[in-house]
Amino acid sequence: MDDFPQIKLKSNPRLDTDTVSISEDLFSLLNLDNDKSVNFFVGQQQKKLNISILNYENIKNTVILNPSLIRQFYLHANQKYGIAVKNSEIRLGPVVGIMAEVFNEKDKPFGGQTFFIKQLLTCGRKLGEICFAFSPFSIDWKRKKIYGYTYGKKGWVKSGFPMPDVVYLRGKAYSLTNSRTRRKIEKLGVKFLNPPLIGKWQTYKIISTNPNLLPYLPDTRLITSFKQVDNMIKKHRAVYLKPVTGSQGKNIVKVVKNKKSPEYYYQYQLNNRLYRGRARSLAKLRSSLKQVMGRRTYIIQKQINLLKSQGNIVDVRILVQKDHRGIWDITGMACRIGKNGSITSNISSGGSGRKLETILKRNFPDEIKREQIIDNIKYVSLEAAKTLEKFIGEAGEMGIDIGIDNNGKIWFIEANLKPARQVFSLIGERQIRLESVKKPMLYARYLAGF
Ligand SMILES: Nc1ncnc2c1ncn2[C@@H]1O[C@H](COP(=O)(O)OP(=O)(O)OP(=O)(O)O)[C@@H](O)[C@H]1O
Ligand SMILES: [Mg+2]
Repeated sequence: MDDFPQIKLKSNPRLDTDTVSISEDLFSLLNLDNDKSVNFFVGQQQKKLNISILNYENIKNTVILNPSLIRQFYLHANQKYGIAVKNSEIRLGPVVGIMAEVFNEKDKPFGGQTFFIKQLLTCGRKLGEICFAFSPFSIDWKRKKIYGYTYGKKGWVKSGFPMPDVVYLRGKAYSLTNSRTRRKIEKLGVKFLNPPLIGKWQTYKIISTNPNLLPYLPDTRLITSFKQVDNMIKKHRAVYLKPVTGSQGKNIVKVVKNKKSPEYYYQYQLNNRLYRGRARSLAKLRSSLKQVMGRRTYIIQKQINLLKSQGNIVDVRILVQKDHRGIWDITGMACRIGKNGSITSNISSGGSGRKLETILKRNFPDEIKREQIIDNIKYVSLEAAKTLEKFIGEAGEMGIDIGIDNNGKIWFIEANLKPARQVFSLIGERQIRLESVKKPMLYARYLAGF
């Protein structure tokens, strides 16, 4: 799968700046009209160049340019690059930019994402891609040039790059800067690996348009008046309140009320502390939850009776990703276990990881039952990804959260368009972790038309 064609780029000062010299094997892939010129692309950087053919039998996969052209295209002589040749077009790369928040730290310019970004860059380079990571503030819009980082023997190095073919956005969720920059970059013809985030209510509404998925959806409403909270509690006894644009389990509230008692019991986590309390009326509940809910928009959802591991809740994270042909597949599945007393399983709020098989074996002794559960999880994950994509546009990857209840029934919790992958490292699934890094770089080739 990794045998994508690559060329060696050479420099020749005697060649004029309107010409590209290519070996005969590459020339035979072109389909030229009478004029012997091609459109030469590196990312969005483009120039019409005359073709000259290198007629030496033992020279293959070679491209030669004048050194000033090499600079103009932000290339480097004697390096290998991926190539796509079609009709009268030659493209090198693809050029892939990873957009993320930059911190003022020499060895960790991308903070907690530094290791992940290093892995992405190394992986992309092996595929012949021109990859770099950049901050949304390091774009020279006038010259359509980006100052970005690469990682090599000398550590992190900053240099200039053309506008890429594809951007992989790994910035803060729901950041205004990111979405503005994104729109500006898109206008220049750049593709994004994933569509913009849409929030939990939108996600729920889209998934519920697919009748095949309805049986897996927990009853969910948008909170437009607090009275609805009462209605849902009466109906389901235990509910989850979740901010529409929330992530990492933040600002999530659980409320329980027994029919016989007037009291509402609530629980939530704020700044890594667990709060619990009781409220004697709906109005009191509302004011008790002000601190955590603020003025955010919330959904309310029936509580799923998730499996437990030593008393702590368990759910499943499924990573679905596309490959170089643009086809969805499941890269990996892992269980997340909430920390003691937690109402969420998120790793970022102290959860841990466990292999799915381990959890299933403990709860379901019957092998056929276990297989059924796994098949169901796979089906719902892939179907959810495809359904969402129909409404929000092409996506390269999603992290699907699925709950399993005590009866082995599975429930769709939510889909993340910027999925984390720590859980696979936590459970020692090195191979899955590596594949999860490689997939977006492969999908970038597809998006760029390579
Ligand atoms: N209806 C529910 N019933 C039981 N547990 C739930 C329910 N909804 C959420 N949870 C628990 O809370 C966790 C977090 O919920 P959810 O994934 O919806 O939001 P989030 O994690 O904050 O968002 P993101 O995954 O985008 O960061 C889930 O993984 C699950 O463990
Ligand atoms: Mg989640």
